Amino acid sequence: MITKKQAAEVRLERVAKRYGQVTAVKPLDLVIEPGSLVTLLGPSGCGKTTLLRMIAGLERVSEGKLFIGGRDVTDLSAGERNVSMVFQSYALFPHMSVLENVAFGLISGGMSKPESYAKAEEALSTVGLKGYGGRLPSEMSGGQQQRVAVARALVLEPDVLLFDEPLSNLDARLRRSMREEIRELQQRLGVTVVYVTHDQSEALAVSDKIVVMRAAEIAQAGAPRDLYEEPANTFVATFMGEANHVKAEVINVKGLRADVKLGEAIINLPARGLDSGSADLVIRPEAMRLHPAGTENTLSARVATATYMGGVAEYNLETPVGRLFVIAPEAHAVRAVGEDVGLSFAERGTILVKP
Ligand SMILES: Nc1ncnc2c1ncn2[C@@H]1O[C@H](COP(=O)(O)OP(=O)(O)O)[C@@H](O)[C@H]1O
Ligand SMILES: [Mg+2]
Repeated sequence: MITKKQAAEVRLERVAKRYGQVTAVKPLDLVIEPGSLVTLLGPSGCGKTTLLRMIAGLERVSEGKLFIGGRDVTDLSAGERNVSMVFQSYALFPHMSVLENVAFGLISGGMSKPESYAKAEEALSTVGLKGYGGRLPSEMSGGQQQRVAVARALVLEPDVLLFDEPLSNLDARLRRSMREEIRELQQRLGVTVVYVTHDQSEALAVSDKIVVMRAAEIAQAGAPRDLYEEPANTFVATFMGEANHVKAEVINVKGLRADVKLGEAIINLPARGLDSGSADLVIRPEAMRLHPAGTENTLSARVATATYMGGVAEYNLETPVGRLFVIAPEAHAVRAVGEDVGLSFAERGTILVKP
């Protein structure tokens, strides 16, 4: 059986990668706790795949040191590191059966065929594909092929399992269920996983820790909730979910709280280390409520678009500080386009950030 084993820590110390003039990853430090699932999240080209491939040993580091399970693997080849990678394209051999695909790594590593096939059967049942070993990859659905790729990685009993955008070839509904499966499997086996994605909802759903990358650097690393609720900057705030971004004025700070002027409204918020003066304010669409125009301490707004979405109503509102996108829960009474309203701001989801 593929069993829970001692999970390995991954530690990067000042690891960097340059390709000639291009710096794909600037020197960075990162610790991935044993048995945790950490996602590398960021826009295309920010260095996620490069970082993953350095952990895998598929790229050499340009500088720095890399440790897996306390062992310095900086100069070891991929084969010597005991890591497995699941690729976006699955990279299954089309002419081999599913079972042969899964057993391939074991056989080429010198294990006997009967033992390799027995282990491959187990790996297939671990991913819910018991009995499918005789099929060709082309006879499997996209989601099943993805699971074969996971089984093929798991069968090697790696210290660290690496995923590079594993779900991007699947449709939205399947992506959602596969990400739950991967998370469930990771927790059941207790294996350390590094998971690359550019999809923030995927990252929020599966991660113990998210490393948000921007332009070859770590923008912020932390638990999903910390990144969503306490983003370090506007990049992280807007990347971690839908957000309005406006300029506001901190008019005074008392202890840990700040009074923030937004149009005519004064909002009392956690100061988050800011002083008086101009500041950026990030406002989640769910953090605003619509009131009758002229309600005390609201920001005046006019409905530009209004959309009934079933459970909620979505609005674009024109305000003195710019257009704001609002998701309101009271879908039973959608406001009319052109109507004047007042906007209030909940503390949760209205976040001061340093400019
Ligand atoms: N083999 C390579 N040679 C030259 N530049 C590369 C190579 N691989 C990646 N890069 C560059 O490094 C940067 C990061 O790429 P990558 O790690 O693939 O980003 P991501 O996976 O986040 O989309 C990009 O600017 C990319 O063009
Ligand atoms: Mg990539």
